[in-house]
Amino acid sequence: MIKEAKTEHKVHELIKKRWSARSFSEKEITQVELDTILEAAGWAFSAMNYQPWRYIYAFKKDSENFSKLADCLTGSNRIWAKEASVLIMSLAKKNYDDGVLNKSALHDVGAANATLMLQATSMNIYGHLMGGFDKEKAVELFNIDKAEYEPVVFIALGYLDKPEKLKEPFKTREVTPRTRKAISEFAAEFKSETEEVLAR
Ligand SMILES: Cc1cc2nc3c(=O)[nH]c(=O)nc-3n(C[C@H](O)[C@H](O)[C@H](O)COP(=O)(O)O)c2cc1C
Repeated sequence: MIKEAKTEHKVHELIKKRWSARSFSEKEITQVELDTILEAAGWAFSAMNYQPWRYIYAFKKDSENFSKLADCLTGSNRIWAKEASVLIMSLAKKNYDDGVLNKSALHDVGAANATLMLQATSMNIYGHLMGGFDKEKAVELFNIDKAEYEPVVFIALGYLDKPEKLKEPFKTREVTPRTRKAISEFAAEFKSETEEVLAR
């Protein structure tokens, strides 16, 4: 598979296999499959085990609520994401129970989302995170208490279909190999060069 990560070291197959797809098949994700994926997300680590992630989702077959989520998307996300089987809005609960700001909330939602995506990948379900959404619209449409919750990122999930199903530029993007920085560009043993890495 052209999208599989080409790694220098023996990185786990699951990590190599995950990628952000846009061509989703008609095959539906079942409630049990989604619950499995969400349960996995819930096993992510979090500061004080506070688990500040929240998820609002709709299946494509529930067209009214699915459209409500899809309507929050912006730009080109609006084109391909509506073909997904499930749309999810991930949110962060911003404060601890005593009202103190949880500075780790966004970090922890990210950790849960990564766990969610890896579980999905293990089930041959592909996903795509989207920061391209209208936050104000999401808050309004879903009656979100802004003081307590912050929409973080949307997630499209579905079984994979052929790249040919997509129009350009998505078709080309669907078959373009993925790339990453070399380890040396983002990590260094703490020695003289560390300062240089952090400056990038
Ligand atoms: C927080 C976040 C926001 C993103 N927003 C979008 C988006 O709005 N639209 C999109 O097509 N991809 C979006 N992506 C997907 C990234 O572009 C993608 O993960 C990155 O290019 C690496 O590709 P890969 O996931 O296939 O390895 C987003 C990813 C993250 C983590």
